[in-house]
Amino acid sequence: MVTEIADALLFIMPAYFANSAPVVLGGGRPLDLGKSMPDGRRVFGAGKTVRGAVLAVIVGTAVALVVATIASNFSFFPLASTLTVELGFLLALGTVAGDVLGSFIKRRVGMKRGAPFPVLDQMGFVVVALLFASASASISLFPLAIILIATPIIHVSFNVIAYLLKLKPVPY
Ligand code: CTP
Ligand code: MG
Repeated sequence: MVTEIADALLFIMPAYFANSAPVVLGGGRPLDLGKSMPDGRRVFGAGKTVRGAVLAVIVGTAVALVVATIASNFSFFPLASTLTVELGFLLALGTVAGDVLGSFIKRRVGMKRGAPFPVLDQMGFVVVALLFASASASISLFPLAIILIATPIIHVSFNVIAYLLKLKPVPY
């Protein structure tokens, strides 16, 4: 049981790193180039930057290689051992797509940058990351359930830590 949980969490680690990297490394030119939709609100908003997105994909892909290298030394991390550059890239790209889609939805319903949207904020990125990854991997139900249950808990914990470290202005 413990190793199954660790295996599932190791597998999704590229998505977690891709999601957190922009908080530390992001900034600069916004992905939507400052443009608004006909509703008068930004397409994605100033919180989604080009540098954040690019570095998220690079960091996530690199993390996949590191995790695969470590996990493949152990027989009890079968899922994490399947990580490849391609799979890491898909998980990271899916993370960015899910994050950007989340902001798109938040702007359309009139939420300002940084406004909390429970569940979407914590789960959106990982759901799209898993969808992207499913193009090249098959993840069985048990690790999938572990990932879906653990992600919001881990997300909230790390955001509180990022807030305490003054990396984020709000603890969510
Ligand atoms: N970030 C970035 N580029 C990205 C994603 C995130 O630079 N592609 C940085 C931004 O500084 C952002 C922070 O990471 O403010 C936290 O990300 P997130 O919580 O996803 O964005 P929010 O600012 O909360 O904006 P939104 O309301 O659109 O979710
Ligand atoms: Mg936010």
